[in-house]
Amino acid sequence: MNGATVIDHPLVQHKLTKMRQKDTSTAGFRRLLREISTLLCYEVTRDLELTMETIETPLTTMEAPVLEGKKLVFASILRAGNGLLEGMLDLVPSARVSHIGVYRDHETLEAIEYFFKAPEDIGQRLVIVVDPMLATGNSSIAAVDRLKERGVTNLRFLCLLAAPEGIEHFHKSHPDVPIYTAAIDSHLNEKGYIVPGLGDAGDRMYGTK
Ligand code: URA
Repeated sequence: MNGATVIDHPLVQHKLTKMRQKDTSTAGFRRLLREISTLLCYEVTRDLELTMETIETPLTTMEAPVLEGKKLVFASILRAGNGLLEGMLDLVPSARVSHIGVYRDHETLEAIEYFFKAPEDIGQRLVIVVDPMLATGNSSIAAVDRLKERGVTNLRFLCLLAAPEGIEHFHKSHPDVPIYTAAIDSHLNEKGYIVPGLGDAGDRMYGTK
């Protein structure tokens, strides 16, 4: 698989522009992230399989569509991934949540894992891995490596912004995992930041520096 699906819904693009602006406050950034993640979740789940179930309406019985299979898992790459969770859980409240802690060594830009928690039967579920920024791809690759070690075969990766370098690197390791993003930016700078980007997503959502 190559490239990424760009979610070009006008509301997504408008909200993303507001998030990029450096004068957007922490509260504003967080609110926009929650709103945009609901829209991204809608798009990333657009082709989920349905199955028919017999239900009773107040008037009659009917065959009606429901989601097939086990509940989804949203796997958040800490800490910035958590910013996408709330909006996604607004839309799919029954989803299970996995947390994966990997941080980037600022010298080497390599991913180092420090936390992993997931449902026992995660291997039988569709897992949507979330991280706002696909930059070098190191942490996303490490997170997907860990999920595959746990038996997960059905995966999607959702982010807000992706660098072309990150998409290429990620798909070299995981060509079977489709990437969904609101935009593909120009490049990574020498510090591993996406340009033009929006800065450090974690710092902007939590007001840290
Ligand atoms: N992580 C961020 O938060 N921002 C970037 O630009 C790259 C990685």
